[in-house]
Amino acid sequence: MATILVTGGAGYIGSHTVRALLDAGDSVVVVDDLSRGHREAVDPRAEFVQADAGDRERLAALLTGRPFDAVIHFAGLIAVGESMADPARYHHGNVVKSAALFDVLRAHGVTRVVFSSSAAVYGEPETVPIPEDHPLRPTSVYGETKLWVERMLAHYARAYGFRYVALRYFNAAGAHPDGTLGEAHDPETHLIPLAIGAALGTRPPLRIFGTDYPTPDGTAIRDYIHVCDLADAHLLAVRHLLAGAPGGVYNVGTGRGHSVREVLAAAELVTGRPVPAVEAPRRPGDPARLVAAPDRIRRELGWEPRYGLEDILRHAWRWHSRQGGGRSGSAGGWPGG
Ligand code: UFG
Repeated sequence: MATILVTGGAGYIGSHTVRALLDAGDSVVVVDDLSRGHREAVDPRAEFVQADAGDRERLAALLTGRPFDAVIHFAGLIAVGESMADPARYHHGNVVKSAALFDVLRAHGVTRVVFSSSAAVYGEPETVPIPEDHPLRPTSVYGETKLWVERMLAHYARAYGFRYVALRYFNAAGAHPDGTLGEAHDPETHLIPLAIGAALGTRPPLRIFGTDYPTPDGTAIRDYIHVCDLADAHLLAVRHLLAGAPGGVYNVGTGRGHSVREVLAAAELVTGRPVPAVEAPRRPGDPARLVAAPDRIRRELGWEPRYGLEDILRHAWRWHSRQGGGRSGSAGGWPGG
């Protein structure tokens, strides 16, 4: 079994992946500065180090004399709107810090990296479903920064012998089926937690951003991928690199798209409650349709998603009901939850 360093392991996708790695028997060290993540989300079986993933001194001290087999690099900023308003923050948080981390990895001979990329690297799609060789024309600073880091990894692979897998996530959603881990962003901008909050009455009615898209019901279509299926993709990516594979770039999505209205209908079915919603104008920068062509990851990593939209909503509902109901010692759940 392997020893894995996980940056951003207190975040949404990171914490689910840490759990999956530990369940598979790996040793895990989490590095997270808790600026966005939650200490409670880190599995107690993992070693936790509160540090910035771009802090050269702390990272160097951690890597000295410790043989890490690979690094999964989640730490970063994820909000498209914020990236447009404050690009410096995104260039620093996503690109500069990744460069610092990779320097430390190089210096310590850790050259296997799994990186959290995003479908945002494609920008407005020319073809849907989107294959990995689709043109890369991000329409947000966030997407640009993800693409820069992918390119950095490609350069480091050529020049320094890095081997990496960049996973281009589509719409991560859902929660651990046991209800103990889930999504807790602050502020929350994602459709599914907002829809569930609206159903629970803990958030305002959902605004449907755009009802005039060229889609069957007029609302935008996304490829929602269960966070535990995403976690599995990371495990397979690590195993792939450890087996000596050269790595590469992979979409992680189901290949199936659902409209905003379909998500709301599924939320009503699962919760048994109406989801109060109002129609609103399109959100700037939102494409009509983002759906993955996931053939490459299926073929090369043997990945198959286990969950569909209803599972995603059922698990998210379980998690948010628990959070809303308060957990012992933390009324209202995790900070930001
Ligand atoms: N939506 C609403 N109302 C809301 C929130 C969202 O109608 O209150 C709609 C959006 O317009 C979009 C869909 O629901 O059509 C999904 O929106 P999310 O905000 O949940 O997710 P995005 O597709 O905008 O963004 C996600 C990730 C980004 C990533 C992007 C591209 O959060 O990090 O996918 O893959 F860049």
